[in-house]
Amino acid sequence: MNGIDSSPIRKAFELARSIEDPINLSIGQPHFPCPANIVEAICKAAKDGKTAYTLTGGIPELKEAMTEKYKSQNQIGYAHPDRMLVTSGISSALFLLFNALVNPDDECLIVSPYFLMYPAMLKFYGAKLLTVDESFQAKDLESFKNKKIKLIIFSNPSNPTGKVLSKDQLRALANLAESTGAYLISDEIYELFDYDQAFYSIGAEYEKTITLTGFSKTYNMTGLRLATILASSEVIKALTTLQQYTVVCAPSITQWAGIEALKTDMTSYIQDYREKRDFVYESLKNHYEIAKSGGAFYFFFRVNGTDEDFVKRAVEKKLILVPGYIFTESHNYIRLSFATEWDTLRRGMLALKELAS
Ligand SMILES: Cc1ncc(COP(=O)(O)O)c(C=O)c1O
Repeated sequence: MNGIDSSPIRKAFELARSIEDPINLSIGQPHFPCPANIVEAICKAAKDGKTAYTLTGGIPELKEAMTEKYKSQNQIGYAHPDRMLVTSGISSALFLLFNALVNPDDECLIVSPYFLMYPAMLKFYGAKLLTVDESFQAKDLESFKNKKIKLIIFSNPSNPTGKVLSKDQLRALANLAESTGAYLISDEIYELFDYDQAFYSIGAEYEKTITLTGFSKTYNMTGLRLATILASSEVIKALTTLQQYTVVCAPSITQWAGIEALKTDMTSYIQDYREKRDFVYESLKNHYEIAKSGGAFYFFFRVNGTDEDFVKRAVEKKLILVPGYIFTESHNYIRLSFATEWDTLRRGMLALKELAS
């Protein structure tokens, strides 16, 4: 633990607290409140006395609802309650997965830039990290084919870049997993925030995929802790045993609310973020080297000088951003979150234009 830097994102939170009226574009969670029908469902579950431990694997009603969701929305025909584990968020799913699957010196391939928890947690278990840039083509994976890779992990759409991997890229990763025997872990926590196409789950065609589905970002349920893992029944059995002796179960009332969440139409929220995505891109494209984000609620763009210097200069304008080095090896990128009010976003774009000149 002493060798692990605790999340520098926390520093951004602390900074935001010390500035009056900050322009906070550092936050990795939705700005809208959790929809009222979901909050009602939590209250109802509590009032109905559903506060006891649940089954370790999750309540059957939620697993049934998730099975339907995987089949109808993700085209994952083999989805089944026996292949599912309900967890306390994807963070908890990662903890269970890495604990169960990774041994010291195992090589693990991460698509980069990456969600910072992947390398941080993998290091707990002594894994050796390999990375491949998210712009990869199938031929770029050739060099990994002769390695003994334990797992391949990526978030799609990506935190921190907003990149949505193409079908060709997903297939190339699945082929690599198949030929090396690696577990393929697809973290789909931002799946609803895919702005330009219908989101595609690689699990739809590669049955050995371990698909992670979260409720945190889609419905602003970050503090409520809910996610599901869809995997082979063998993996699920191992993870369920581990959950039984560690996390025990996902919060009971949240599981009941999860069923209601799945019935909630989020179209207008997604449209709001699509417009914000367009606005940020149009505002910055002539000032920075920036690619249009395809999903999630982030941009990852290049700055002159180091990311840390840029973050310091931004603070002088009350603007809070996250330095890119925590998501990648480079020190020249900044992560911007557009999950905020229009007014804050407009102020942020003005500040960024000034910082570019
Ligand atoms: C890609 C990705 N995966 C997982 C998580 C953690 O999600 P949860 O709240 O379900 O633990 C986050 C949160 O920032 C994330 O960005």
